[in-house]
Amino acid sequence: MSQINLEQATKALSTVQDPDLHKDLITLNMARSIQILDGGKVKFNLVLTTPACPLKAKIEEDCKNALIQAGASEVEIETTAEVRGFKGFSTKQPIAGVKNIVAVSSGKGGVGKSTVSVNLAIALSQLGAKVGILDADITGPNIPLMLGVKQKPDLSSDNKMIMPLENHGIKIMSMGLLLGDNEPVVWRGPMLHSAINQFLREVAWIDLDYLIIDLPPGTGDAQLTLGQAVPIGGAIIVSTPQDVALMDSKKGLNMFRQIQVPILGIIENMSYFIAPDTGKRYEIFGHGGAKEAAEQLQINFLGQIPLQSNIREGGDKGLPITISDPQGEIAQAFSQIAQKVAANLSICAVEEENGQARTAVKA
Ligand SMILES: Nc1ncnc2c1ncn2[C@@H]1O[C@H](COP(=O)(O)OP(=O)(O)OP(=O)(O)O)[C@@H](O)[C@H]1O
Ligand SMILES: [Mg+2]
Repeated sequence: MSQINLEQATKALSTVQDPDLHKDLITLNMARSIQILDGGKVKFNLVLTTPACPLKAKIEEDCKNALIQAGASEVEIETTAEVRGFKGFSTKQPIAGVKNIVAVSSGKGGVGKSTVSVNLAIALSQLGAKVGILDADITGPNIPLMLGVKQKPDLSSDNKMIMPLENHGIKIMSMGLLLGDNEPVVWRGPMLHSAINQFLREVAWIDLDYLIIDLPPGTGDAQLTLGQAVPIGGAIIVSTPQDVALMDSKKGLNMFRQIQVPILGIIENMSYFIAPDTGKRYEIFGHGGAKEAAEQLQINFLGQIPLQSNIREGGDKGLPITISDPQGEIAQAFSQIAQKVAANLSICAVEEENGQARTAVKA
């Protein structure tokens, strides 16, 4: 019986495309260490561009089929991931050790940015990524409460860097950790600017695939500082379905476009409420507004999160819903959003590596 050789196996894998990245696995350097073992068995490492890859099973299946067709008797795939960095087509200096920066923003206050930031960060880490969260809401920091941390951060051994705290599998930094309880922050623009810059550059964000930045509401100093300081891979806009929130979201969107930050998409929070006693669905803030707005504005709709009391309770006691009920419907919704975000960043990273002009990120 004729056996498959290395050249044939490589050729077979070069016919398998990553459906998101529209290139083959050999060109993308995603199929590595290909070996032909006794009896025509092919073994190789499949290196995905993110552990949160929604297409993992499909790519593995396509590889197996291609290799069997090319004459392999058996196929063994060891799948790992190496997250690629996306700099938002910007030439600004990246943060050392951080591959992708994602800003979570909203035009209007109280729509759930911090809730989304925390649960998105945890969902990405549950999928296997290394994740940090930076609370850029300097005057109203909520992240420590939501993640159940309050100790003061340490300095690095050379006293040059602040060490982020860690809980629920993610690294955390917030002004709330540096101030005492109930200490108000009454800072103006320039001080906010330097605090945010310090949090970006002087915190030891070592080896992160994704740094999620929770912004204060609106289009103020924090947004501008961030846009000027570092290359942002993309912004996510959080909105409720009501018109007024959506109108403010459009302002936020335009601001990011002006400062040339790619928009990864919109998340609709507090979309609907299911009454626990009757199971009836109530659309408290209206219906489908964010999805329609996304279509109009030609941006991705990343998903919707219902209004549910255990989301707020979890936030209040430092136990986010993705941790307290990881198999539940809400955690699954966050996981799907996380996969879309990660996939979009991978697509953009490959385009950036190839010097391609930016194409629309996919929904
Ligand atoms: N889907 C939801 N279901 C129930 N409660 C929610 C939901 N999303 C957010 N909340 C609650 O609503 C309140 C506001 O949410 P959050 O702090 O995340 O909003 P924000 O946009 O970050 O606010 P701010 O503009 O003040 O920073 C919090 O008490 C939070 O627990
Ligand atoms: Mg907030």
